[in-house]
Amino acid sequence: MNSSLRQRKKVAGVALPTAVLLLVAGAVTVQSTGPAAAAETTLRAAAAKAGLFFGVAASPNRLHPIVGQEFNQLTPENDMKPDRIATSSGGLQNTGGADTLVNHARSNNMLVRGHTLVWHSQAGALQGASQATLNTFIGNAINRWGSRIAYWDVVNEALEDNNTGRRRNQWPHSMNRDANGDGDFFDAGDTDVIRDSFIRAKQVVQAGGLTTKLCINDYDVEGLTVRGGTPNRKANALYDIVRTYRQYIDCVGFQAHFNDNPNSIITNDLQANIQRFADLGVEVHLSELDIDDDLSNNDIGAGQAENYRKVVRACLNVAKCTGITVWGISDSESWRSSERGLLFSGGNGNYQKKAAYHAVLDELNKGRSATPPTTPPVTSDPPTTPPTAGCSATVSLNSWTGGFVATVRVTAGTSPINGWNVQLTLPSGTTVTNAWSANRTGTTGTVQFSNVSYNGSLNAGQYTEFGFQGTGAATGLTPVCTAS
Ligand code: XIL
Repeated sequence: MNSSLRQRKKVAGVALPTAVLLLVAGAVTVQSTGPAAAAETTLRAAAAKAGLFFGVAASPNRLHPIVGQEFNQLTPENDMKPDRIATSSGGLQNTGGADTLVNHARSNNMLVRGHTLVWHSQAGALQGASQATLNTFIGNAINRWGSRIAYWDVVNEALEDNNTGRRRNQWPHSMNRDANGDGDFFDAGDTDVIRDSFIRAKQVVQAGGLTTKLCINDYDVEGLTVRGGTPNRKANALYDIVRTYRQYIDCVGFQAHFNDNPNSIITNDLQANIQRFADLGVEVHLSELDIDDDLSNNDIGAGQAENYRKVVRACLNVAKCTGITVWGISDSESWRSSERGLLFSGGNGNYQKKAAYHAVLDELNKGRSATPPTTPPVTSDPPTTPPTAGCSATVSLNSWTGGFVATVRVTAGTSPINGWNVQLTLPSGTTVTNAWSANRTGTTGTVQFSNVSYNGSLNAGQYTEFGFQGTGAATGLTPVCTAS
């Protein structure tokens, strides 16, 4: 671990009786096969039922049975980092450990998050490499495992510590050039290692017809604010990057190594921050979760189990928060063992569930909420038109050249509803490529979206949201909502 890592005080199932986890095109899909049943007894089964993955950071020497039993996603803790697998010319070497992990994930029906292509730390032979060499490495690494990697962290930890909102100036970020000196790297003439690495990664994915999704990953970006209510400038900078380069970025990882550093605490606006990234149309992951349980400085809030519960709930409440990964199995085998930040004690295959484990399982079993608590239904302003007994729908768009993400809000009228259907007519040439939190019929022309199991029942005035992504333009969409 290098000094900056040390300086940051942070840590980081198989039987599915009533739900089936499908690993399709890199996405977790859940099929309900019956009425609500008893609570699931493993993290992976409970998560699958709620429509997200629950994963673990893993190493080849720690592939104990618990890995496949409890988790349905795996991130190589160290075996896909450049210092393991990159040569100085951007070639690959020593991929054996990574292969072992990818194979283990496949045979246990787990997704893989590749970690990580461009990073200032653990850069190994790539330290100081040019963008051209980075691009060569990006191509080699993505093609090595293809769609067996559902998500790749393309850029890790691009932003500076201490809530400055600036980028790091360590390699590779020293390759950035701010041509007009306006403090960002988004203008003509600027060079930007983030943009250029994502463009390369996207090219490789598209050329290979891969389903791999491309993520940017960072820490201390979890809340809208940090301790004391100061705006989280690091999160805001990440948000600007994702918004600006949205066409290349599919997912955002909040590392979520929570501890008592002022910028690493669990704030009440975690869910709202997840939501604002989700509203850009990207998936959000809590990609390296661990929560400090150091009793001598337990000023990050209540007990560890309650903190886990809170964090898992924040993710569950945002439909596009599609996965949580804990950064190791047990405290003693964690990169920050003194903080006892994980879900199990014990080691070497012999693990005991902690209170935090039971809290997480319980929270996952409650499933997603149709009504996010931080954005309650608007009840104070009287509507300008008389409320309807059925439902209404509104669309908000995030568009770019050639594509868009639409977020549709469905609001119940004056009576509770048990289900809804939204019909939309797309302009000609526009095609829906995927949808979330709704069942979809049709991809062009008139398309229909109906509720899924967890978001059909709404009380009077309550709303839920679903989304879809498409190619082409999404102008003039007029949703028609029917309730049942
Ligand atoms: C850590 C590993 O857990 C350690 O084993 C290794 O010595 C250092 O790196 N952010 C990241 C992870 O993105 O890759 C780091 O993993 C933890 C911080």
